[in-house]
Amino acid sequence: MIMVGPGTGVAPFRAFLHERQRLRRDGARWLFFGHQRRACDFFYEDELEDLTAAGTLTRLSTAFSRDQEEKVYVQDRMIEEGADLYRWLDAGAWFYVCGDAKRMAPDVDRALHRIVAAHGGLSESARPRHVARLAAGRYLRDVY
Ligand SMILES: NC(=O)c1ccc[n+]([C@@H]2O[C@H](COP(=O)([O-])OP(=O)(O)OC[C@H]3O[C@@H](n4cnc5c(N)ncnc54)[C@H](OP(=O)(O)O)[C@@H]3O)[C@@H](O)[C@H]2O)c1
Repeated sequence: MIMVGPGTGVAPFRAFLHERQRLRRDGARWLFFGHQRRACDFFYEDELEDLTAAGTLTRLSTAFSRDQEEKVYVQDRMIEEGADLYRWLDAGAWFYVCGDAKRMAPDVDRALHRIVAAHGGLSESARPRHVARLAAGRYLRDVY
């Protein structure tokens, strides 16, 4: 599963990871976490390191928006790592988004479309259908 949870959006994904660890479930898990500053906003850093060391979290991508002059957001990381992200999706990954509904969720959705466009090798007309197919079952959002 691929989890995009900047800010408070990380909350359900901690529970997902802990549940899978407790139940000893197999599977690859990739978390995109973002917040303003690494030094004071990287909630659960130690916990995420432990989950990674235990093999419960396969990959962690972070975006700290105010640690540099230009803003960097989770969707920028998604695009940078778009080839891998597309491979995961193509292999059947579920795509979860949690957090801000006004700005983050639509931007993440646009990034997802861009990734499908760039790496999916699909015609322009086929792309929305491809994302819609994902949305039908494997693209879930809890945004507010
Ligand atoms: N935190 C709370 O206690 C609280 C309480 C009630 C309601 N809320 C609401 O819950 C939602 C989420 O808030 P949050 O506290 O989890 O954090 P947030 O405001 O979503 O900020 C988390 C990170 O997302 C970044 N961000 C801003 N615009 C973005 C975009 N278009 N795409 C991707 N990332 C973007 C922020 O960067 P920059 O800030 O540097 O732009 C920050 O690094 C917001 O609508 C907020 O109003 C929060």
